[in-house]
Amino acid sequence: MMPIALSVNGRKVQAMIEPRTHLADFLREHCRLAGTHLGCEHGVCGACTVLIDDKPTRSCITYAVQCDGVAVQTIEGFDDDPVMQELRTAFSREHALQCGFCTSGMLIAARDIVRRLPDADARRIRIELSGNLCRCTGYLGIINAVESVIAARGSKIAAVSSAAAARPATPFHAFVPTDQPAAPALTAPVSAPEEARTGWTRFEESFLVPRPPGAVWAMFADIPAVVACLDGAELTEHDADTAKGKMTVKLGPIQAGFSGSAVIERDDGAQRGIIRGAGSDKGTGSRTKGEIVYRLSPEAEGQQTRVSVTVEYNLQGSLAQFSRSGLVRELGRRLVSDFAANLNARLAGAEARAATGAPLNAGRFIWAWFLDRLRGFFRRRKI
Ligand code: FES
Ligand code: FES
Repeated sequence: MMPIALSVNGRKVQAMIEPRTHLADFLREHCRLAGTHLGCEHGVCGACTVLIDDKPTRSCITYAVQCDGVAVQTIEGFDDDPVMQELRTAFSREHALQCGFCTSGMLIAARDIVRRLPDADARRIRIELSGNLCRCTGYLGIINAVESVIAARGSKIAAVSSAAAARPATPFHAFVPTDQPAAPALTAPVSAPEEARTGWTRFEESFLVPRPPGAVWAMFADIPAVVACLDGAELTEHDADTAKGKMTVKLGPIQAGFSGSAVIERDDGAQRGIIRGAGSDKGTGSRTKGEIVYRLSPEAEGQQTRVSVTVEYNLQGSLAQFSRSGLVRELGRRLVSDFAANLNARLAGAEARAATGAPLNAGRFIWAWFLDRLRGFFRRRKI
């Protein structure tokens, strides 16, 4: 058991809890605040969204012990909040709820949009709310309700801050204490989803390799070596311009193995490459197609190489619900981050640390991330 002390809806709460207790269970069972609902318990549906230090956060993938010293606000804590009052009225007027299961998370996400994006139109609201799933309404009433509150408030709300406004769409993240390092060692932000083609998800990353561009470019021409740096990837056939293989991804209880092929184009002069591929998973009946563009540029007077990667993909079938989520983008970030680490290890002559062909496992990321935070917790308390 571990001690925590935090503020919940403005009230100080102290407790001894099991380290494995997630925040949603803590709120529902210890604090008796059952307005926080649990749907998927995998960070996908958004039903469990609460505010942690004023930021919407998935309480089902946030361990309660990480919340020591923070301020949590649940749906029960907004009785005096004017924006929430307006949203509640608008949700009733616009028939934005039926069973109400999604509504507490939806309202907390909607309030964040109203405060953060006073100019948001229906399209932006849809993007921002894409991390909150509703099985009943068809979303139209919800979008109309949020739009009507934004319109009615007009210029009453000044954007909270440019940093907050730039925050990505409704987050699919767990809480990360500010004194802890962010998990991925990547430098470029995830690009806004609206930059992608309609129905496609897009993100951009970059990483630094401590080798000259020539060495990195040569490595990228070695298809088996590149595939060996990708967790979960398996190469079955290839020549200089094409490759066939399988990518296995494990997301919570779901494991999907996408078999497919890719065409590779390389521009030696510009040190830029494009990989276009398509694949399908028989188990889930899902299909995907995508494009990865990578560019090399010299840094540190040509001694180092920045690798910029843009990934754009479209997912159809039963796994398509995940493609809208920040969780998948986060998984993509971690995939690129691990790829960068493996590539560096390989270029340094060491054995790539994850060239095992084992499935890319989201649970492993979450577990590693949790252990990091747990260590930080003990360090802070000097236990
Ligand atoms: S219950 Fe937390 S996101 Fe679904
Ligand atoms: S109102 Fe039923 S899930 Fe949204």
